[in-house]
Amino acid sequence: AKKTLPAVDEEELAKHCVREDCWIHLFGNVYDVTAYLDFHPGGVDELMRASGRDATALFNQYHPWVNYDNFLKSCYVGKFCGDLSKLK
Ligand code: HEM
Repeated sequence: AKKTLPAVDEEELAKHCVREDCWIHLFGNVYDVTAYLDFHPGGVDELMRASGRDATALFNQYHPWVNYDNFLKSCYVGKFCGDLSKLK
């Protein structure tokens, strides 16, 4: 099984901001979407805009109806415990 963490703060999240190691924050959860990137119907570059950051606002902007939970089950890292306002 993949490693999960008890919690992830904004500092830890921000470390994972490249194509080969890409985490995002979505609705209070942190996901490692590195493997999902190639499957994102909106493309790698679009999803990379949220790498190491909050993806919730962009997600809601483009497709609030998408059932992300289904797609990201295997990508789950942990709960976000940081301060979203500190994310760039
Ligand atoms: C399309 C999933 C994050 C931008 C889609 C679609 C899915 C999807 C399933 C197809 C939707 C449809 O046809 O109704 C996800 C998941 C995300 C995510 C699981 C979270 C990890 C994002 C983010 C952005 C984005 C953060 C923007 C920065 C787009 C765009 C499309 C799209 C622009 C439309 C592509 C097109 O049809 O031309 N995404 N997405 N997505 N997504 Fe995402």
